[in-house]
Amino acid sequence: MSRVAQLGSRYKSGNLLLPRCTIAIWISSLCYDATYDANCIRDVVDDYIREQKEQFKLLGEESTFTESQFAKTLSDLIIAGIETFSTTFDWFAFYMAMCPDVQSKVRTEIDEVIGTRLPTYEDRLKMPYTEATCIGLQRIGNIGHGLVLRTVTKDIELEGYNIPAGSALIVNVYTMQIDEGYWKNPDELNPDRFLDGSGNVIVKPGSFMAFLLGRRNCIGESLG
Ligand code: HEM
Repeated sequence: MSRVAQLGSRYKSGNLLLPRCTIAIWISSLCYDATYDANCIRDVVDDYIREQKEQFKLLGEESTFTESQFAKTLSDLIIAGIETFSTTFDWFAFYMAMCPDVQSKVRTEIDEVIGTRLPTYEDRLKMPYTEATCIGLQRIGNIGHGLVLRTVTKDIELEGYNIPAGSALIVNVYTMQIDEGYWKNPDELNPDRFLDGSGNVIVKPGSFMAFLLGRRNCIGESLG
């Protein structure tokens, strides 16, 4: 059986989207393997291949950096990154249409900092109003709420409530991000609430949790 067919046969039942996506990613990663150069790491795929080779030298077949793990890691990144980003972008388009004053300030900043060239990651640091607008959209769009369950591993008591081991918990991000106790006029997109008196982006308040918190929070936050 071919390597592709072997991978596909693991997913004979259930949702086909994930296995198909995984196989497509895995096939394209083979092209990467062919052009891999240890002296020129291009992106996360090259970095994985580098680590895979290192780990294989150290641990041989015991290494967990397998090709199947590789495909799953890449599909995790793509699935977690695509829907979240596209929904955020939908909210961006909606709110720019609904709030022309905000749109005009964002537009001015884009024209001044980027102009007609392609944007770079560093541009972001010079665009506090646009950054504050994106944070504001993530608060009001609330796309990550209820996304992930947590399981309690041992009996705990929290604020007077006994929560037995094995219970599933959801962090109520939605309520937190529109709570009037934390946000004045919570239904308004107001980028200024994320800017200080000098126009710099403030540290995000604890009641902003679009990417959640803790060890398993979103790894895309620095891009988001
Ligand atoms: C605006 C865009 C995004 C939003 C709102 C968002 C939101 C979230 C949320 C709420 C979680 C759950 C965190 C937790 O359980 O504590 C999460 C997890 C994750 N996100 Fe994002 N995300 C975004 C973009 C991205 C992008 C672009 C990537 C990849 C490049 C990504 C990769 C991941 C991964 C891999 C996890 C799982 C982390 C883990 O379980 O350790 N996300 N994201």
